[in-house]
Amino acid sequence: MTKDLQNKTIVITGGAVGIGYAIAESFLQKNPKVVIILDVNEDFGADAIKKLSAQYGEKKAVFLKCNVITDIEVIFNRIIEDYSTVDVLVNNAGMLNDSAFKKTIDINVTALIEWSLKFWEHMRKDKSGKGGTIINMASIYGYVIDPYVPVYHASKFAVMGFTKSLGHVNNFTKFGVRVVAICPGFTTTVLARDMITWTPDVMEEFNAYAKEQPWQNPEAVGKATVEVFENANSGTAWRIIGAQPIIQV
Ligand SMILES: NC(=O)c1ccc[n+]([C@@H]2O[C@H](COP(=O)([O-])OP(=O)(O)OC[C@H]3O[C@@H](n4cnc5c(N)ncnc54)[C@H](O)[C@@H]3O)[C@@H](O)[C@H]2O)c1
Repeated sequence: MTKDLQNKTIVITGGAVGIGYAIAESFLQKNPKVVIILDVNEDFGADAIKKLSAQYGEKKAVFLKCNVITDIEVIFNRIIEDYSTVDVLVNNAGMLNDSAFKKTIDINVTALIEWSLKFWEHMRKDKSGKGGTIINMASIYGYVIDPYVPVYHASKFAVMGFTKSLGHVNNFTKFGVRVVAICPGFTTTVLARDMITWTPDVMEEFNAYAKEQPWQNPEAVGKATVEVFENANSGTAWRIIGAQPIIQV
């Protein structure tokens, strides 16, 4: 099942830096109609568009300032006004700070669900949508357990359950919207540099543990995401660890 990206409109939350930016770049290499980057950080967003426009052409990448917790209605309406149809939504915005558990759930879970359902309605074929794909950013912390970041684990297990159920083959057959998840291992971004445990008492142990894990750069996750887009069935999740080939989990 190869999916064509020509003429497609792609929306990426939290796409100004890190994994989201790498996903934007990997999609742009396939020459879609446009990649719309949403992020709270306006300066990083402006930088991202400057770099991507120089490489891929004017208006191929667009930035809209957006807080995924609060701005869904205004941003959704703006995108539909300008582009009519969204073909791919990547719910990438996320955080790892277990001392801020409510905010973690707000961004990693509640916002991801809200954005998925909003765009799922827009895409559903039985109500004159054109179909589409929702890609949710989970993590290896969505299917393995270690003792260091229980809140982050909770958020990413939630993403996995939500994705596999909404994307279930029965729903895909009825409604025509594909929903899949990506599970990256440790990736060299600001999030991974500044990881915070729920108590300082395990921070040192966690840092030592993390150091021993296989790391990868965000570009590996960007490439993996496009590969998943091109090949994965709805309701599936794919891990990418240490820039090795993707494996279904
Ligand atoms: N880095 C890793 O090791 C790793 C591993 C597995 C999964 N992930 C997941 O990948 C995703 C991206 O992580 P990253 O490592 O690139 O992080 P990052 O911190 O480098 O980038 C996250 C981006 O999201 C934006 N953002 C944060 N809150 C937002 C909000 N409320 N609204 C809009 N934008 C917001 C930030 O401004 C930033 O640009 C997250 O969901 C994270 O949980 C990361």
